[in-house]
Amino acid sequence: MLAHNRIAVLHGVNLDQLGRRDPAIYGDLDYDRLTQRIGEFASELELAAQFFQTNFEGDLVEHLHRVHDIADGIIINPGAWTHYSYAIRDALEIAALPTVEVHLSDIQNREEFRRTSVIGDICLTTVSGQGVDGYRPALEALRDHLATAAN
Ligand code: DQA
Repeated sequence: MLAHNRIAVLHGVNLDQLGRRDPAIYGDLDYDRLTQRIGEFASELELAAQFFQTNFEGDLVEHLHRVHDIADGIIINPGAWTHYSYAIRDALEIAALPTVEVHLSDIQNREEFRRTSVIGDICLTTVSGQGVDGYRPALEALRDHLATAAN
């Protein structure tokens, strides 16, 4: 088991509304079932996932200010903040933890404004368009990074 295996799984604006959003784009899991599934992936990979979701940008910023004390890595799906929040980007830089960006939908093949991610270049990698299943390769990438960093 990895010594540093605590993963903060962070969801931003409107992701608590999964289940009410277009299932053709976002799948049919609601937020609770999404986090349950991510928790199962994490357990299979011997990672300890903890979850946080908010619709308030400042709450996510403040969570990122504290996350260093409770996690070794971050999975983040910021929702629409992905495309314009320099505040979230700056807070992620302050957190200074290895981070993987995840999107349920394929942000490169939707509306033009979704093609820009203001956090992509400070993340280890981005997984997009694989629905809930995309959180598994995201967790694997973090686990591999944490394992290498430990040696
Ligand atoms: C999303 C993609 C964003 O463009 C959108 O605003 C979301 C969800 C996704 O998971 O596909 O709220 O991050």
